[in-house]
Amino acid sequence: MKRKSIFYCTQCGNETPRWAGKCPACGAWNTIEEQPEAGNITRNRTGGGLKNRSGMDTRPKGARKLSELSDEEEVRFSTGMGELNRVLGGGAVKGSLVLIGGAPGIGKSTLMLQICGTLCQNFKVLYASGEESGRQLKMRANRLGVESDKLLVLSESALSDLLDAVSETRPEILIADSIQTLYNDALDSPAGSVSQVKDCTMALMRLAKEENITVFVIGHVNKEGSIAGPKVLEHMVDCVLSFEGDAHTSYRILRASKNRFGATNEIGVFEMRDKGLTEVPDPSEMLLSGRPEETPGACVTCVMEGARPVLAEIQALVVGSPGGNPRRTSNGFDYNRAAMLLAVLEKRGGLRVSSCDAYLNTVGGLWLEEPAADLAAVLALASSYLDRAIPKDLAAIGEVGLTGELRTVQQIERRVSELRRLGFKTCVLPSHAREIIQAGNAGNLKNSNAFSGLNLIPARNIGEAIRAALGAGNTGA
Ligand code: TYD
Ligand code: MG
Repeated sequence: MKRKSIFYCTQCGNETPRWAGKCPACGAWNTIEEQPEAGNITRNRTGGGLKNRSGMDTRPKGARKLSELSDEEEVRFSTGMGELNRVLGGGAVKGSLVLIGGAPGIGKSTLMLQICGTLCQNFKVLYASGEESGRQLKMRANRLGVESDKLLVLSESALSDLLDAVSETRPEILIADSIQTLYNDALDSPAGSVSQVKDCTMALMRLAKEENITVFVIGHVNKEGSIAGPKVLEHMVDCVLSFEGDAHTSYRILRASKNRFGATNEIGVFEMRDKGLTEVPDPSEMLLSGRPEETPGACVTCVMEGARPVLAEIQALVVGSPGGNPRRTSNGFDYNRAAMLLAVLEKRGGLRVSSCDAYLNTVGGLWLEEPAADLAAVLALASSYLDRAIPKDLAAIGEVGLTGELRTVQQIERRVSELRRLGFKTCVLPSHAREIIQAGNAGNLKNSNAFSGLNLIPARNIGEAIRAALGAGNTGA
């Protein structure tokens, strides 16, 4: 019988019956490759066949009533790093599979090896690295101060070797560094290809679920920001953490983009030092350190990262555009939102920004998604345009609407207390928000001084806010 071939895209994993120059799914060029159809033989040899190896599938088969299912809480344990525990939703869950993604060199291996140091005191840990030799691992561990005769290390990249080592040593925690170097030799495609990455992740998932091993998988993120090209891994695993950071600063932010056992809006902040990563328990202080004194074009705001209020500085540069074709860029702030704010500033704030180049940047590699940061962005832009500095101890919180009105945001009290904690003296905020705060304070005498020392300036629209912060601007709105 003639063997049929299928084609797949090495970028997104899309399968097509015939070759094409351009992938119909993701639009990438020259990424379609031929792969013999996964017939019976291959199928038995892939990750799908690993169940027989372990022979430990204890899960009852077939459908059952919901009421019969166990509703025991998942078992969690601490990783020894508070910031990582926080992002995981309060510690790692036993038998879960966590994918840690990030650009090469960001510090994924460092983070994992560091937690090994603590974890191996209570658990049996296997660190499998296909990226580094045993000697390199040892040197890194020395540098990080991880000394343990209990930590097991494997320097192999074949999936079968990894599985042999697991069944031999029976670890409780497995770290696979990285999914791109791991390969199943039963497949024809090279390590790092979509089918390899899928298959190896599947095998690790089985280990996690059937043997109750907590598995951390490291995955390099490519230029487009997706793990292993496509998003093929994300739906398979329990938890996706991404490790982000600016190559030029030492700060690193760990963020959960998927978590089956917790919230996804928490962040963990680390600093890369010469002896590895250290936790930054007070990110606001870190993000504001080194702030220039009273220079035009910067404003501080407070965003909520999960349950935690974090102060962020937004910087703007607005300069005349000689070519008449203004450039706009934004970094750490949604581009379309920035364009909208510029338009509102022009029409409702009365500043002629449409003929200017405008650049917006969030300091420290933070990505501001919350509309609560709108007002600070508008004020930073206005401050740069007018070339007038915003006082160093002034911050602004609020969402800006299309008519230039300010809308209140959630958890305003927590944000305001964070500003007060870090020594801010003035906060411009939507007028409605101040009423909320005052009503709250009036009803709670014990708390009535909660914001003493912080002057809350209410503003109804961006015109009022600009006047309050900069003492200038058109009243346009
Ligand atoms: P690494 O964990 O190897 O990155 P990844 O696994 O994400 O590819 O981190 C490598 C970078 O971290 C490298 O540029 C050097 C830096 N580093 C330090 O600054 N201090 C340290 O103690 C270590 C181990 C690494
Ligand atoms: Mg690495």
